[in-house]
Amino acid sequence: MAAADKPLDFLWFIPSSGDGAYLGSDELARPADPGYFREIARAVDRLGYSGVLIPTGVACEESFILAADLAAHTEQLKFLVAIRPGVASPAYYARLTSTLDRVSNGRLLLNIVVGGSAQELAGDGIFLPHDERYAHADEFFQVFNGLIENGKAHLDGKYIQAHNAELGLPPVQSPRPPIYFGGSSDAAIDFSAGIIDKYLTWGEPPAQVAEKVEKVKRAAAAKGRQVSFGIRLHFIVRETDEEAWAAADRLISRLSDETIAAAQEVFAKNSDSVGQARMVALHQGRRDKLEVSPNLWAGIGLVRSGAGTALVGSPKTIAARLREYQEIGIDTVIASGYPHLEEAYRVSELLFPEIGLAGPRNQIRSSFGKRQVFGGGGHGGNVRVASGS
Ligand SMILES: Cc1cc2nc3c(=O)[nH]c(=O)nc-3n(C[C@H](O)[C@H](O)[C@H](O)COP(=O)(O)O)c2cc1C
Repeated sequence: MAAADKPLDFLWFIPSSGDGAYLGSDELARPADPGYFREIARAVDRLGYSGVLIPTGVACEESFILAADLAAHTEQLKFLVAIRPGVASPAYYARLTSTLDRVSNGRLLLNIVVGGSAQELAGDGIFLPHDERYAHADEFFQVFNGLIENGKAHLDGKYIQAHNAELGLPPVQSPRPPIYFGGSSDAAIDFSAGIIDKYLTWGEPPAQVAEKVEKVKRAAAAKGRQVSFGIRLHFIVRETDEEAWAAADRLISRLSDETIAAAQEVFAKNSDSVGQARMVALHQGRRDKLEVSPNLWAGIGLVRSGAGTALVGSPKTIAARLREYQEIGIDTVIASGYPHLEEAYRVSELLFPEIGLAGPRNQIRSSFGKRQVFGGGGHGGNVRVASGS
């Protein structure tokens, strides 16, 4: 089977800073709520997603603790959790990693987040300029990987000193949980080539993603390594293209021009992230040219930092667009949609059958084959088709 014919590995997203139905508005907003995150995690575990990305940042719940809670309430779901070099020592992150992998029985995936917001980094006590943060991260992972893979590390580096560090309890996964990473600068790609298993990009148009994939492949090959690729996208899938575009318009229907301008100013002033700049360049703060390549809509990036684009359309349309990314080498999708509980159902029910994914796990027999009001799936409960009268 060619790589592009293999079903995608499909993850969802935990909106750990809050959720809602309208961007940039308090109307129908849902605050950060651990009970709600459990509902999403339990739903997506059952709906056939392989995992969830838990974001990290000052506005979010702490991701290791949230993942530990969600692991206790789910069965198979994996947790993509961020390590932020410099926020804690590599030895402490190694202990967090090992314990989370052990309590979740090997369901941990790691996401390296070096960071791009000067304000947030300063709050965490990190004052290194952009490229030097990657030099620091490189030393961090010399220690972290030594501990997590072999239980020992020693380094007298320029940034990190760890003397005869030890880790007593190994992770379940051997030699360690897989390492994912998203960073678009040259320094990021150079750093990551020697360390990561999967390179992640936000949802840029296919031609731009292809360019990055080639760059990362070349950088990894130069270090004798191979890397796989994932994409982070929102989804607005409906039964028809027209309904999907109407839903996209509705999502930003409460968004004022002032809110957009204020958000764009914060991104411009506060961020030295090349990945973020590439997202902003797609729409340049304008709401009149948001379809930046076929069915790829940049409306979310008008106010949301990070992942700012959505695939919009019917299941068939979106499946065709995903296929284009697969042909470039993407094998993993990290998806989301507003609100995250309802849209997790939509994506699983509408899109999964179109892209060869199984959908709900543990489907139980729900009828003896007689037709029910809502079809063979049996979610009509005990209501039967009326017979004659
Ligand atoms: C899929 C994906 C997920 C990310 N998750 C986070 C996150 O949770 N928190 C965060 O601060 N940055 C996150 N980032 C940002 C990157 O980790 C990185 O810090 C940023 O892009 C700056 O790097 P660059 O200048 O090399 O692009 C994410 C990036 C990608 C592609």
